[in-house]
Amino acid sequence: MRIDLTGQTAVVTGGAHGIGLETARALRDCGARVVVADIEETKEFPFLQVDVTSAQSVKGLFTELSNVDIVVANAGIGGEASLEEHTASHWNKIVAVNLTGVFRTVQAAARRMKTRRRGAIVLTASTNSFDGERLLTAYNATKHGVLGILRTAANELGPYGIRINAVCPGFIRTRLTREGFDNPDFMREYARHLPLGRGGEPEEVARVIAFLASPLASYMTGAAVVIDGGQLAAKFGLWNEDNANFVTDHWELK
Ligand SMILES: NC(=O)c1ccc[n+]([C@@H]2O[C@H](COP(=O)([O-])OP(=O)(O)OC[C@H]3O[C@@H](n4cnc5c(N)ncnc54)[C@H](O)[C@@H]3O)[C@@H](O)[C@H]2O)c1
Repeated sequence: MRIDLTGQTAVVTGGAHGIGLETARALRDCGARVVVADIEETKEFPFLQVDVTSAQSVKGLFTELSNVDIVVANAGIGGEASLEEHTASHWNKIVAVNLTGVFRTVQAAARRMKTRRRGAIVLTASTNSFDGERLLTAYNATKHGVLGILRTAANELGPYGIRINAVCPGFIRTRLTREGFDNPDFMREYARHLPLGRGGEPEEVARVIAFLASPLASYMTGAAVVIDGGQLAAKFGLWNEDNANFVTDHWELK
């Protein structure tokens, strides 16, 4: 059994870096023709400059791609501020990309896919779709909201043979989190709470996205799949110096 996407066309928003780039690579490895839609260019894939905060730009993307089988709505940004320090512009910027951008992408994808009565959509949500990590009010609100889009779209699109699912990554090594991964003191404390004792790699998320986009996930729609090394399952720190050593960026049992 293998993931076979031969003959399928996929588009990945935010596919120039991080989880999106690894997803584009995974889909290509499975045989799909992959187009990256991003504000930043990549030379590795056929590329369309798309800003998901612009209705015109997203419309243009789907005009350009007449037949699309797989859409990964992954573009997203972070940004920390305390609740009181969330300015209107901070809030609006994050909502525009992470929530309105996903809504627009899903809406345009649905219009395209409905006429063909098939398609698979995958959203990049987050463990922050379920928790309230401090300093991330806007980010958390958008990632909770993405699950609202997911579940409503699953209801509306299922009858047309279109599946939509989400991945909910935990702490994954990309430029969004690089500072944390590069800081051993931070990682020692953060990974203390992760059952697998380490952060995740973007490929580990990309593989799940490729599966959800493929016929192997034929009975899955409306699902939010958590990929977090056990973070949401954990309670209090479980790694400590009595039973384990911290090595570079992860914990190992003694
Ligand atoms: N890294 C993590 O730990 C983590 C955890 C959970 C969820 N996520 C989510 O994963 C997704 C990808 O993030 P990442 O960690 O790979 O970060 P990243 O910064 O490496 O990649 C994000 C990509 O989105 C693109 N992008 C940003 N704004 C855009 C816009 N307006 N229009 C089109 N493209 C735009 C960027 O150019 C970039 O290529 C995001 O939705 C993020 O919220 C990341």
